[in-house]
Amino acid sequence: MTSRINHIIAFLSVILTLTGNSNHKKQSTVVNQSNDIIDQKVDSLMALMTLDEKVGQMNLYNGFWDVTGPVPKEGSEKTKYDHLRKGWVGGMLNVKGVKNVREVQKIAVEETRLGIPLIIGFDVIHGYKTLSPIPLAEAASWDLVAIEKSARNAATEAAASGINWTFAPMVDISRDPRWGRVMEGAGEDPYLGSKIAKARVHGFQGDDLKKDNTIAACAKHFAAYGFAEAGKEYNTVDIGTSTLFNMVLPPFKAASESGVKTFMNSFNDLNGIPVSASKYLQRDILKTKWDFEGFVVSDWASINEIISWGYAKDKKEAAKIASLAGSDMDMEGHVYIQELVNLVKEGVVEEAIINDAVKRILKVKYELGLFDDPYKYCNTKNEMERIGSKAHLEDALDMAKKSIVLLKNETQLLPLKKEGQKIALIGPLAADKNSPLGSWRTASEDHTAISVLEGMQTYRGNALEYSKGIDLIIGKTSFVKEVNINTTNRDGIKEAIEVAKNVDVVVMVLGEHGFQSGEARSRTQLDLPGLQQELLEAVYKVNKNIVLVLNNGRPLAIEWASENIPSIVVGWQLGSQTGNAIAQVLYGDYNPSGKLPMTFPKSIGQIPIYYNHKNTGRAKNVENNVFWSHYIDEENAPLYPFGFGLSYTQFAYKNIIIKSSNFSINDAVNISVEISNIGDYDGKEVAQLYIRDLVGCVIRPIRELKGFELVLLKKGETKTLEFVLTKKELGFYNNNGDFIIEPGDFEVYVGGSSDANLKSEFTLK
Ligand code: BGC
Repeated sequence: MTSRINHIIAFLSVILTLTGNSNHKKQSTVVNQSNDIIDQKVDSLMALMTLDEKVGQMNLYNGFWDVTGPVPKEGSEKTKYDHLRKGWVGGMLNVKGVKNVREVQKIAVEETRLGIPLIIGFDVIHGYKTLSPIPLAEAASWDLVAIEKSARNAATEAAASGINWTFAPMVDISRDPRWGRVMEGAGEDPYLGSKIAKARVHGFQGDDLKKDNTIAACAKHFAAYGFAEAGKEYNTVDIGTSTLFNMVLPPFKAASESGVKTFMNSFNDLNGIPVSASKYLQRDILKTKWDFEGFVVSDWASINEIISWGYAKDKKEAAKIASLAGSDMDMEGHVYIQELVNLVKEGVVEEAIINDAVKRILKVKYELGLFDDPYKYCNTKNEMERIGSKAHLEDALDMAKKSIVLLKNETQLLPLKKEGQKIALIGPLAADKNSPLGSWRTASEDHTAISVLEGMQTYRGNALEYSKGIDLIIGKTSFVKEVNINTTNRDGIKEAIEVAKNVDVVVMVLGEHGFQSGEARSRTQLDLPGLQQELLEAVYKVNKNIVLVLNNGRPLAIEWASENIPSIVVGWQLGSQTGNAIAQVLYGDYNPSGKLPMTFPKSIGQIPIYYNHKNTGRAKNVENNVFWSHYIDEENAPLYPFGFGLSYTQFAYKNIIIKSSNFSINDAVNISVEISNIGDYDGKEVAQLYIRDLVGCVIRPIRELKGFELVLLKKGETKTLEFVLTKKELGFYNNNGDFIIEPGDFEVYVGGSSDANLKSEFTLK
């Protein structure tokens, strides 16, 4: 059927070209020529489509196997199959595996009138079967090459499983660790977030979408979902233009500029308008200002939720508002398929709106090569060979090691000695093979991570004793279930104390269960859940030589541990290779180099707490009275700032040089700095550059990250680093959303965290 359609289209395209009816200008580059060809093909196909078939392309159904949201009342399996056969479905999500994908694709291609292939979406968030660290952990590596590779491998595995579209990267900036979805993003900073967005888009999409191991990416959730009030999931968002343009939008813009094929809108409202209904975001900014040519998919039933928000009275109105606003595809909402045809027939929605959406969707399908071969992702040989390959597992280990952050190593308990040291491993997460896989691992099997216990056992010569201490959770948990925390059963604490008494060093693996972060996992406490703090303090009473390894999907407020425990390692949820990565870092075979992509607060009352805040009118205690911006019961400083992370060696920065102190706004400002490894180990440092624009027409943050570099330094070695600041780094968005650059004085800071104090200055004339 598809080849028949291709013939008809080819014929129509020739006629269009010969008669000069094509609206497209002749372009010089190959890329634009192929763009034009695709446009012609899409136009020709659309000329054959009925209104029902067009609206069908805007309909995305969940498959029959997994669910990742509330199951809607309508849309029985029978209805979905029926709609598939009529050509009323543009794509499906949560269908995976060559056999399953082939089954639905075959219906679309062979049983519908026009044989238009389906786009097959899936949440490939941090790996597919081979799991990489959760995205927030990967961000802690600041290693764009490794991050891109991680996405590349994920795409390769997903593509081999029949999938051609991922709902990633999630590029939401967030300053609120109470929000469970911070685990899916790149943290609090728009500069780092933009670089990572770009790396992930390239990783998923590769350099050629026609290949059978590249898939379309999706920048989500557009926009401002990470600013949900009080960190509460699905909550309202009220932010000003300055925050929207300078903090929220940059990673989305970076994704768009990197050629991301799709965007997903979100569950929140923005200043009173549900974003699925926001013309301002979707049409005015994304499609007009940024010239985005791909399509926008709604989030799971987010078009229906326009009604729950109280912005539309019924489905018909919701469908009208969302389509006019530029939401092109309805994910498992059943609203477009039920309402849009009538809305067009009644003249409420112009067919041009439908045409625009369908054109965008079909274009992506063409770009993916689905019209040339709709089964291109359905290759059982690839499925056998590419999923869970040895090479992917090795890369996942590399990524996991790079993601680990050393927060404290006061008495140099780390690295552990490989010989002659008695070590005990204690904690409910120490032998856990499930939790380290983190949230969003819908394609991997549960309980498949290497546990910390297994990882440490591979180091021979150590007498490794183990005690779980307590359970963290009661019963089983999963992506769709609440986590039930153990708060009463202390039975194992005594045994843990006995084990701890007789060893030189105790490694304690504590933190959050993997399903305590992710979607719908907002928390009001950021402590060690359940009885873990009690266990930690009980062990500390008998042995103070503790290395605390955190498992966490977000920053935690661990003030007691930070004051008392000599060594602390952030071990996140590191995916399939968790235990191997942690063991290699603990035993010193890998020198940690990760840096926090999000501030760790001292207490929850400080949230939102982030490094790039504004100064306020009373930022300092000048007169020694109470009238300044502070708390009376807590410091302003965080527990650990953005960008912070130690190494087993030490680095020193000096000689920051800016050749001139005056520049014009068109000049590039070159900054050089020397960095030396003054410790006892070879090591890697993430050198960071921050600026402060002292006076602006919109108040500027006290610091903004504007450059970073990963530097490998042998023990005793010194290197000179060069940073360049251009308009792009020195400008910002004013309150009209225009990017501007203003003359004035700037401070520059370089160092190993956002607290860096090596400083220089320059002036823009
Ligand atoms: C999430 C999206 C996800 C979608 C499909 C929604 O609940 O917000 O991020 O892509 O489900 O699984």
